[in-house]
Amino acid sequence: MKIAVAGTGYVGLVSGVSFAHIGHNVTCVDVDEKKVELMKKGKSPIYESGLEELMVKNKERLDYTTDYKSAYANADVIFIAVGTPEKDDGSADLSYVYDVCEQIAQSIIKDTVVVIKSTVPVGTNDKIASFFKEKMAKKNINVAVVSNPEFLAQGTAVRDTLYAPRIVIGVEDEWAEKIMDNLYAPFLKEPYNQVLLKMDKRVSAEMTKYASNNFLALKISFVNEIANLCEKLGANIEDVTKGMGLDPRIGDKFLRAGIGYGGSCFPKDTKALHHLSKEFDSELSLVRDTIEINKRQKVKLFYQAYNDFNGNLEDKKVAILGVTFKPGTDDLREAPSIDNVKLLLNHGVDITVFDPVGLDNFKKIFGDKVKYEDSVESAILDKDIVFIMTEWPEIINFPLENYSKLMKTPIIYDGRNCYNINEAKKIKRLQYKSVGRKFIK
Ligand code: UGA
Repeated sequence: MKIAVAGTGYVGLVSGVSFAHIGHNVTCVDVDEKKVELMKKGKSPIYESGLEELMVKNKERLDYTTDYKSAYANADVIFIAVGTPEKDDGSADLSYVYDVCEQIAQSIIKDTVVVIKSTVPVGTNDKIASFFKEKMAKKNINVAVVSNPEFLAQGTAVRDTLYAPRIVIGVEDEWAEKIMDNLYAPFLKEPYNQVLLKMDKRVSAEMTKYASNNFLALKISFVNEIANLCEKLGANIEDVTKGMGLDPRIGDKFLRAGIGYGGSCFPKDTKALHHLSKEFDSELSLVRDTIEINKRQKVKLFYQAYNDFNGNLEDKKVAILGVTFKPGTDDLREAPSIDNVKLLLNHGVDITVFDPVGLDNFKKIFGDKVKYEDSVESAILDKDIVFIMTEWPEIINFPLENYSKLMKTPIIYDGRNCYNINEAKKIKRLQYKSVGRKFIK
């Protein structure tokens, strides 16, 4: 089957490469010439484990181009996977999606299935279907719009796509359903064994995506609030979540307490669903609270330190370990490190940062306002305070006793609970504050 994918971000490129991997011929379309040239050489413009290997392995079935006209004209199925950034009022900006729809309408010469993979507000797929109906009426060409939300997470995107627990599609045209069945058939077999869940309304598929992301965000905010209370009561959040997670009705995933969720998805999707619910006069108050709790949680470490030092942080030398919103990615979008570094800079703090892959992106935001080091060791040397913002293996595996040896005063605020609390107790001089666990002083 011939597939075109519009947009080569995390969703578009990983999906395109995965379709090529299961045997389809895929053309990835992007407006950025430089990115296209890079991908033609088998290089990925994004940091994603296993992606380049698959790009190289499947290169005979993969093409990259800026020439959308011929890519769309030759395709049986076109996936739209362009960005839907957040607007100032929290709603999603759909201009990139509609630009691609316009280009598709201009380019196609036969009946075509257009699949929306970008996360779009509930109801958008139906609007796009009406758009094509109107546009294509004169040309006598049918466009079937299918909603096929994406559930991959950054850092594990390739594995998440190949071995997804479910593929959700909302399809309202019989002929398109057959094509989607054929397209996904290889994923339903060994070794992938995925489940294809078909919904007869596009709007149900769209809602499944939002409800899933919002529920996961809610789970994180819930556990973070419980963790904050645990700190006050002397309980240990890790024991608590272990106990909760053993109940199969709750499950043990997404119960890690910390300094909140970041990334390009949860922050945007919670705001977008909240915005939509208000528009329909059915405000989702749980989602509103999830957003508020997360906002506070992200800057928890700064305020803890601020209070501990009675507001006197100016003369402190601080190391920030980890700047990306989670490990396994170079993405800084909505990362707690950004909010904390801004607050620390406002208080005149001397900051050194370390991250195994995120420093280039961090430099684009903070330039020479902070110092950069390429190891944990060099970052923490002679510092007064360390903030841990991302649980990279390089940080988790760094011996706790070395903080005591290398820092001027070994004070750690660990936002991702990287270290064993009983180990921390044994280290001389160490002051260790993590999330939802006893403070070691
Ligand atoms: C998320 C979803 O997990 C994917 O299923 C979805 O497809 C994707 O959004 C999307 O809509 O495109 P992603 O944002 O890449 O994926 O990352 P996650 O692994 O979900 O982590 C999001 C944030 O939650 C991170 O900042 C992470 O540190 C935080 N988190 C996660 C916690 O604080 N605690 C947890 O237990 C789990």
